[in-house]
Amino acid sequence: MKTHRELLQQCDPDVFAALVGEEARQRHGIELIPSENYTYPEVYCTNGSVFANKYSEGYPGRRYYGGQQFTDRVETLAIERAKQLFRCEHANVQPLSGSPMNQAVYMGFLDPGDTVLAMDLSHGGHLTHGAPVSHMGKVFRFARYKTDPKTGEIDFDRVMALAKEARPKIVLCGYSSYPGDYDYAEFRRIADAVRALAMADVSHIGGLIAGGAMRNPFDEGFDIVTTTTHKSLRGPRGGMILSKREHAKKVDQAVFPGAQGGPHMNAVAGIAVALGKALQPEFRAYTRQVLQNAQSLANALKKSGCELITGGTRNHMMVVDTVESFGVDGGVAEDTLGAISITVNKQLVPDDSRPPLRPSGIRLGTPAATTRGMTKTDMEQLAVWICSALQRKDDSEVTRQLDQQVRNLCERFPVPGLCGSSLARSDKPTVSVPDDRFMQDFDSINPALRDRRVGMV
Ligand SMILES: Cc1ncc(COP(=O)(O)O)c(C=O)c1O
Repeated sequence: MKTHRELLQQCDPDVFAALVGEEARQRHGIELIPSENYTYPEVYCTNGSVFANKYSEGYPGRRYYGGQQFTDRVETLAIERAKQLFRCEHANVQPLSGSPMNQAVYMGFLDPGDTVLAMDLSHGGHLTHGAPVSHMGKVFRFARYKTDPKTGEIDFDRVMALAKEARPKIVLCGYSSYPGDYDYAEFRRIADAVRALAMADVSHIGGLIAGGAMRNPFDEGFDIVTTTTHKSLRGPRGGMILSKREHAKKVDQAVFPGAQGGPHMNAVAGIAVALGKALQPEFRAYTRQVLQNAQSLANALKKSGCELITGGTRNHMMVVDTVESFGVDGGVAEDTLGAISITVNKQLVPDDSRPPLRPSGIRLGTPAATTRGMTKTDMEQLAVWICSALQRKDDSEVTRQLDQQVRNLCERFPVPGLCGSSLARSDKPTVSVPDDRFMQDFDSINPALRDRRVGMV
């Protein structure tokens, strides 16, 4: 019987070639985008499974279609594991991703024109926290708080004053490019003062909270916490809305039927798997290592001459001001590092005067590299390579050598789920792919993963 991969290779060599090319890119390069990670081989199994065939509108025990005995089981597992990990009373695991998850909360708890107090985009907030280009920015009013330009801290007296002026219905904290941690008790105090809901979008650090490495907003009595499942949690792409019991009905109605129809049950099954993994002691160790690696990378970058926004990091990510440090904008820096197989993303810095596609910085993070098993010395090495590449970006020989060194490092740290010689050999594509080094024999690199081949029947 042919494997799923063999069938795809025969049926659609173009898509297959792109798939193999992407596998090669992920395997031979270092992923430093802080919102990305490598999911578990077991999650590839559920993602590409028959759960994708099933419509399951509704919730476990009350669905609109028959045949739900197994979908009910996986969704219940995901819900119970989420409640245990985040110490919360209710969990909805159906949002299709992070943006629909936040939209569902706004639509479920606000009326059009109501106000949300949220972090400014260039200071670290996310698009879904009210950027004018987002649909939510058109439906609701967003008042924005910023960080102190010198310290990078949040001035809670100013946030309180802003809240009293704007009278928000939701006080929202959460970020996608703020290299700090929050004092959730302060946000709760402000929300109480204006009788607003306290909501945290912990999409970036959901895994770090689940693993006990960062603070949990529920410990300070937050009403609602949202998180994506595919970043530090290492799950499939998806979102979760976690809440106090008193908000359960509104949350569930906001997701279905409010915002979406059939949940992606293959993703829900994958979320159950990832949350099961997050309950293991190994995951707690992983989350601590993510933070340690971020410290090591930030310190080494600073030593090599990088200007970091807020001066460092207290989470898994950091933002480098590349204009200040190297005289190049974030777009050029992203391309330069791409040429040595290090993937980062261009990033706005607070109150950036440059446009989003040519901003002043880049954003880096450690969840994916930590998943591969990299530690302090690897972070220090990466910092040196990053700075060398940016300092000597027009020297093609330096670029070539650095690229080779990055690739050599990657050989020592296999990507989970991308190993197995028979898999690699049988995958020989029938059209050209960007990098045929993927066809090497990986069993010798990590025998433990030999039998966990992706997509095998
Ligand atoms: C804080 C935060 N919220 C929401 C999202 C949106 O998630 P998605 O891209 O899955 O829609 C992101 C994505 O980066 C994020 O960082």
